[in-house]
Amino acid sequence: MAINYQTGIIAEPSSDATFILLDATHGEEGTLRQVLSDSPAIIHSIQKQFPGCELHAAIGFSAHAWERITLQAKPAELKQFPSFEGAFLSVTDEAHDIILHIRSTRHDATHILALKLFQAMGDSVTLKGQTNCFKYIDNRDFTGFVDGTENPQGEDRKDVALVGDEDPMYRDGSYLNYITFRHDLQKWNALSLKEQEDTYGRTKYDNEEYASEEKSAHAHTKRTSLKDDDGNSLEILRHSMPFGDLQEQGLVFAAYSRTPTIFDLMLQSMIEGDEQGRADHLMKYTQASSGSTFFVPAIGFLEALTP
Ligand code: HEM
Repeated sequence: MAINYQTGIIAEPSSDATFILLDATHGEEGTLRQVLSDSPAIIHSIQKQFPGCELHAAIGFSAHAWERITLQAKPAELKQFPSFEGAFLSVTDEAHDIILHIRSTRHDATHILALKLFQAMGDSVTLKGQTNCFKYIDNRDFTGFVDGTENPQGEDRKDVALVGDEDPMYRDGSYLNYITFRHDLQKWNALSLKEQEDTYGRTKYDNEEYASEEKSAHAHTKRTSLKDDDGNSLEILRHSMPFGDLQEQGLVFAAYSRTPTIFDLMLQSMIEGDEQGRADHLMKYTQASSGSTFFVPAIGFLEALTP
C-alpha cells in the first residue's frame, strides 16, 4: 500500500533542513488549494532528481487558517500554540498559517524543493520567515550536547507521531509544534562541564543519561520525561536542528505527535516547572518568545483539495 503520511514526519534525522512560515493570502485560497493538491506530485518529481538524498517534506496548517485554506473542519485537537509564563522564559502563539518543513542530506536538494513549492504558491502566500538548519558535529545542539537520543525508534516513530483511529478523517496526519530558540552561548560556555551536564541530566562527551536519583528536578531531561497515570512514557518525535551564523546561534525545535497535548505538558513542565515551581534550567541560557502549532495532513487529504 502506498504511504499516505507526509514522509517528512517520520524520516530519520537529516543533515540539512529548512523551515518556512507562510501566511495564506485572503481571496487566493482557491489557487493555494490547487497548488497544495499538486504538491505531492511536485515533491515526488524533485525527489526523483535527487535519489539517495533522503529528501522529505511536510506541509502543515495552523488553527488560524485551517478551515479557510482547506474548506474542511479542523482536526480534533488542532488549536493555537499554548501560552506559558515562567521565571526564565515565556511563550505565546506566533499565529502563522502554514509551515513547510523540508529536509535532506544536501542543501541544494532542500533548497530546490523549497523554492519550487514556494514559487508554485505564488501570490497565494506571503513569506513570514525561513530558517535554514544544518547538522552540527554529531547531531549536537550548539550547547554541545547530542539532541534526539531518546527519540522513538523504528515502528514506534509512527505510533508516536501519526493520528490513528481516534480521528478517522485525519488518520496519518500529525501535529507539529515549532519554536525558534536563540541561545546565549557566552553565558552557557561560562558554566563548568559539570554544571552543563547537570542542566541536561546527561553527560556531554559520551552522551550518557544520569541515573534517575542523580538528576536535578531542574534538569531538562527530568522536566521533559513525563509519564501518564499508568506509568507509560509520554513521547513526541523531535526533529530539532541547529541554525546559526556569525551573529546568532540557536535551535529550531520541531516535534511531531499524534496529539498536541503531550507537547503542551512538556513545555508547561519546562517553563512553569513542577508542583514546586522547579523549572527547566536550560531555559536560562536561551530565548524564545513564540511558537506555532500546525497539523500536517495525509497526502491523500492534500491531493483531494479542490480550487
Ligand atoms: C531531550 C536539547 C527544547 C523535549 C533533550 C536532549 C537534548 C535536548 C540535548 C538530550 C538528548 C535527547 O535528545 O534525548 C534541547 C534544547 C532545547 C530543547 C537545546 C531548546 C533550547 C525542548 C522542548 C521540548 C523538549 C521545547 C518539548 C516541549 C525533550 C524530550 C527529551 C529531550 C522529550 C527526551 C527526554 C528523555 O526522555 O530523556 N533535549 N531541547 N526539548 N527534550 Fe529537549
